[in-house]
Amino acid sequence: MTHAGLFLTFEGIDGSGKSTQARMLAEHLQGSGHEVVLTREPGGSPGAEEIRSLVLEGDPDRWSAETEILLFTAARRDHLERTIEPALAAGKIVICDRFADSTRMYQGLSRGDLRGLVDQLHSLMIGREPDMTMLIDMDPDTGLSRAKGRQGTEERFEDFGPALQQQMRAGFLALADEFSDRFRVVDGNRDMDSVAQDVTDIVMAALR
Ligand code: ADP
Ligand code: TYD
Repeated sequence: MTHAGLFLTFEGIDGSGKSTQARMLAEHLQGSGHEVVLTREPGGSPGAEEIRSLVLEGDPDRWSAETEILLFTAARRDHLERTIEPALAAGKIVICDRFADSTRMYQGLSRGDLRGLVDQLHSLMIGREPDMTMLIDMDPDTGLSRAKGRQGTEERFEDFGPALQQQMRAGFLALADEFSDRFRVVDGNRDMDSVAQDVTDIVMAALR
């Protein structure tokens, strides 16, 4: 590891339980004496949170996939500079709800094959991967109904519909194979506590 802290991310389709699991893991680690920063993307710093409302609200066709790559990467750069890097440098555990793998999937796959563009911009402007990524794998219909149950205004991607969820699930599983050194796949189709137990076991083993 090239830094003092530990950088953990959660990935998966909308409604798979990432935010819930990230929060439960943070509480568990804090309870066992670790310093934890719980954060999310898009967002996680004041500037990136402003970009968040631009990308998550409004019509599905508000931005092209190419423009989205720039907006998500701009938000990520700010988040990295102001929140993630300082916390890692101070030796903390950073738990982030989504990171660059989400751009590889949502912008890289959803409207044609733009993965090459995503990867180029990532290596130019971000240039780092998490130490470990938990993929919460989940049946797409269940995920979408859970996500829709939240009734918020940030529904731009959910409004792309079930076909996108199916494509993203398959894409994430392929990504877990591609980056098998850092990905761990967890079955999200269970109650929260069972999922959380698996996540805790994986992270505690990594910390030892
Ligand atoms: P995500 O961050 O992946 O979109 P959330 O953690 O926000 O997912 O969960 C979406 C909804 O499903 C929330 O209302 C949450 O309380 C609920 N939920 C999360 N995990 C589970 C689970 N294992 N079983 C049932 N409901 C869950
Ligand atoms: P998030 O708040 O994690 O939503 P959810 O809790 O429903 O999973 O993320 C909001 C949306 O942003 C989600 O539909 C995926 C999308 N997204 C991208 O398209 N690209 C990205 O790089 C990121 C981080 C998120």
